[in-house]
Order: sequence, then C-alpha cells, then structure tokens
Amino acid sequence: MIEALNISKSFGDHKVLNDVSFRFETGKCNLIIGQSGSGKTVLMKCLVGLFEIDSGNVMYDDRMFSRMSFDEMKVIRQEIGMLFQGGALFDSMTVEENIIFPLSMFTNQTTEEKRDRANFCLSRVNLVNVNKLFPSEISGGMKKRVAIARAIAMNPKYLFCDEPNSGLDPLTAIVIDNLINEITQEYNITTVINTHDMNSVIEIGDNIAYIHKGRLWWSGDKDSILRSDNPELNEFVFATELTRKLK
Ligand SMILES: Nc1ncnc2c1ncn2[C@@H]1O[C@H](COP(=O)(O)OP(=O)(O)O)[C@@H](O)[C@H]1O
Ligand SMILES: [Mg+2]
Repeated sequence: MIEALNISKSFGDHKVLNDVSFRFETGKCNLIIGQSGSGKTVLMKCLVGLFEIDSGNVMYDDRMFSRMSFDEMKVIRQEIGMLFQGGALFDSMTVEENIIFPLSMFTNQTTEEKRDRANFCLSRVNLVNVNKLFPSEISGGMKKRVAIARAIAMNPKYLFCDEPNSGLDPLTAIVIDNLINEITQEYNITTVINTHDMNSVIEIGDNIAYIHKGRLWWSGDKDSILRSDNPELNEFVFATELTRKLK
C-alpha cells in the first residue's frame, strides 16, 4: 500500500498539486486519471521521489518515504518498478540486455541467473525468441511488453506506469492493460497507473483517483464512475463515444 497524505507541489507560482490525499491499495491497479496537464505525472514523480514535495507525506507500507535519508530511500527505490511514458528501452541494447540491465545494477547474480530471470520475465509477458533483437526490430506492443518485463525483473512490490497505452492501437492497449492487471494480482503488487484513457478505466479501474485542477476531485471504482453526479468528472468520463454508450 502507498499513501499520499496531503501532498502539495508548486513550480514557482503555479500550484500543480493542492492537498492531495489518496490510498493506493496492494494487489490492485490504482488509476490516476484526469485531463492532460492536470498533474498526473507530477503526482507520480512526487510518489517515487523524483520531485520533492512542498508539504505532505508519502508512505510506503507504513514507511515514511518523504522523511527518509538517501540510504533509506535507496531500499525502497529497489522495490519499485517503473514503466516510463513512451516505453524508454535502451535502443543500443538487445531485448535481453535491456531486462538484465537492472539486475546488473542492483544484484550480484551470475550471468546465468540473470539470463534465467530475463527469460522468465519475457515468458511472463508472452514474448519468446526475441532475446537477441533490438528495440528497433520489434513492434510498439512488443516494446511495451519488454518494458513490463524489465519493470518486473527485480520482483517489485510497487509498480508505476505513466500512460502505458500511449501510442498503441486500442486492441493492443487493452492487451497491455490486462497484462499489467494480471501481473499486479499474481504478484500482489501495489500498481499505480496514470491514464487519460477511458478504455483503461472501464477495463481495470478498481481504485481510481480523479485529479482536477490539482485537487483530488473524486475517487471510486469503474462501476461508480459511470453513475457519479460530479459534473467535472462526467465531462471527463463522457467525452468519448464508448462511455456515452455505456451510460
Ligand atoms: N518540471 C516542471 N516545471 C514546471 N512546471 C511543470 C513541470 N512539470 C510539470 N509542470 C506543470 O505541471 C502541470 C501538470 O503537468 P503533468 O503532471 O505533466 O500533467 P499530466 O501528466 O496530467 O498531463 C502542467 O501545467 C505542467 O506544465
Ligand atoms: Mg503525464
């Protein structure tokens, strides 16, 4: 479980996050949703410590992250897997080398152990016989799978995905959403996903935080989101054909 407690964050005069509190639950896909520019990425970066928060706290299973020393933070950072916007694989490394990279950084595993782990993670995301290929030689959906395999290589307790669907066609997007959801449940990971994609909300939205104008405007799940009478939320939710049909 990760808890955001009264988080505020400004850049100069611009208050991007205003007193945001939310509980991200273990074994679930926790979604942060909101319009482009609403502060989703900033919130995620505050949670993982890439941005320093102005006030408030971040708790990782009762460990107060935002008050930790550098060494204490390092322990938690090694429990975190990240899936960056756009995939962000290393283009000059093969698929296998990409997955082995965090293992070489953070563990003392032998070459054989690392290769075994890479193969296990690749099979978990349904990729075989691609170990020696370079990112430029595989499709967008496959790159996402490799990025997921790399994110789970260290067996993370916490997984952060910033817009994991961006740039994918709708069908591939659903496959990737479901894969993240399966892995989350299988390994009991606290997963945090930023998205503005209502398809994802309907597919995997078990615990949703809607951010509007820097505040937590609404929270709930994929069923209650379609029945909410919050006008700003409804404007976001029913902006697309798909969700209008569901109403
Ligand atoms: N490093 C930064 N410096 C100044 N402003 C920033 C920085 N990062 C984000 N912002 C601002 O914070 C707001 C929220 O951005 P962001 O979290 O990226 O939105 P989202 O991910 O919801 O699309 C935007 O107005 C953006 O311009
Ligand atoms: Mg963003």
